[in-house]
Amino acid sequence: MHHFQYRGNEMYCEDVPIQIIAQKVGTPFYLYSHATLKRHFSAFNDAFDGINRLVCFSAKANSNIAVLKLFANLGGGLDIVSGGELFRGLKAGILPDRIVYSGVGKSVDEIDYALKTGILMFNVESIEELELINKRASLLNLKAPVAIRVNPNIDSKTHPYISTGLKKNKFGIDYKTVIEGYKLAGRLENIEVIGIDCHIGSQIIEAQPFEDALKSIKRLIDELKDLGIEIRYLDMGGGLGITYDDESPPHPGEYARPIVNALESSHLQLILEPGRVIVGNAGILVTRVLYRKSGRGKEFIVTDAGMNDLMRPTLYNAFHAIKPVVKTKERLITADIVGPICESGDFLAVNREISDVKNGDFLAVMSAGAYGFTMSSNYCSRLRIPEVMVKDDLFYVVRARQEYEDLIAGESTPPFLEN
Ligand code: LLP
Repeated sequence: MHHFQYRGNEMYCEDVPIQIIAQKVGTPFYLYSHATLKRHFSAFNDAFDGINRLVCFSAKANSNIAVLKLFANLGGGLDIVSGGELFRGLKAGILPDRIVYSGVGKSVDEIDYALKTGILMFNVESIEELELINKRASLLNLKAPVAIRVNPNIDSKTHPYISTGLKKNKFGIDYKTVIEGYKLAGRLENIEVIGIDCHIGSQIIEAQPFEDALKSIKRLIDELKDLGIEIRYLDMGGGLGITYDDESPPHPGEYARPIVNALESSHLQLILEPGRVIVGNAGILVTRVLYRKSGRGKEFIVTDAGMNDLMRPTLYNAFHAIKPVVKTKERLITADIVGPICESGDFLAVNREISDVKNGDFLAVMSAGAYGFTMSSNYCSRLRIPEVMVKDDLFYVVRARQEYEDLIAGESTPPFLEN
């Protein structure tokens, strides 16, 4: 359950009518419910009661510093994939020793930044990266704590763009060669092996792939032990799916149970990197209908939010429910809900049954709290939109709408163009 519900005909976020926020802030904007964020984080964390664990929220899903600060206050850590995410996490008050750093393409500057910060561990994705981290740590006179990200070759049965645990994917080190990687790590002066990591994909709606990954990682931990390599941290990544439409993903408790059972009697410290399951249904995108138009046998609803604001429908053909902020007794129509951008791929929904909304009406694009704002862009020189957080009966703009001047910040014209 989330806190975007109708009271009578009007949709509220917690105790605030969404229409009021839209009138005050303007549209489009992202809207997050504090109570939902908090409940989702706690429910996920509590599912692992009984074992030593650290929930490192995956910053890429939603990196607004107010959101990160909330998780920091709840004792959360952070899963980052860039120097920028590290910067945000620190600004939000996430403790360095609760930050894990994943990603196949860490640059020298990013590695140095993370080393100097003293993060919990690097999730290393290649032998070359391991060697580079060792070199940089040696220059800084530090020891780098690392886990190796294993590619377990498991089919997470999700969209191909967000499946990551198959051998054809670019992620991690192949299951078969990972032992060699650990042996090398053990020999490198400035590397301290502390963990093992995997992340098999995103929006996974079955429990089995997670169980398979757990089994294969446990087997590796035992093999490593026989070689005298002691693993302290087991990072199971993220990936638990949510309901966008009619999916029924495992409940966090169901997802956690096999992990808790497997680790109860071990000394291993568990790390999790959930993103979507915490924030996805804790946020919506609010947009206004600009125009209605009819094509040949087609109805179009043109909104002021486009693919640059919410990329998921365009990029993955992802489904987001779209509901009127104020329900009227209008009949239902079937329409394409499209944005203002000059591409046919600029849609929020295609052939969608929706109430017969008019220009000026507000629409709520549901389940947009994960990979919504973070994947947005300034394409077509459109201003990046505000993010708003509601707590009880109050709302706060936690990111202001950009202004035209922001669009050209940092740009300049060279002297040879001046006349
Ligand atoms: N850890 C690692 C190493 C990851 O690569 C990801 C997501 C996560 C954790 C968090 O996964 P989650 O719990 O959110 O499934 N833009 C796509 C999703 C891309 C996911 C990338 N990695 C979308 O909008 O569906």
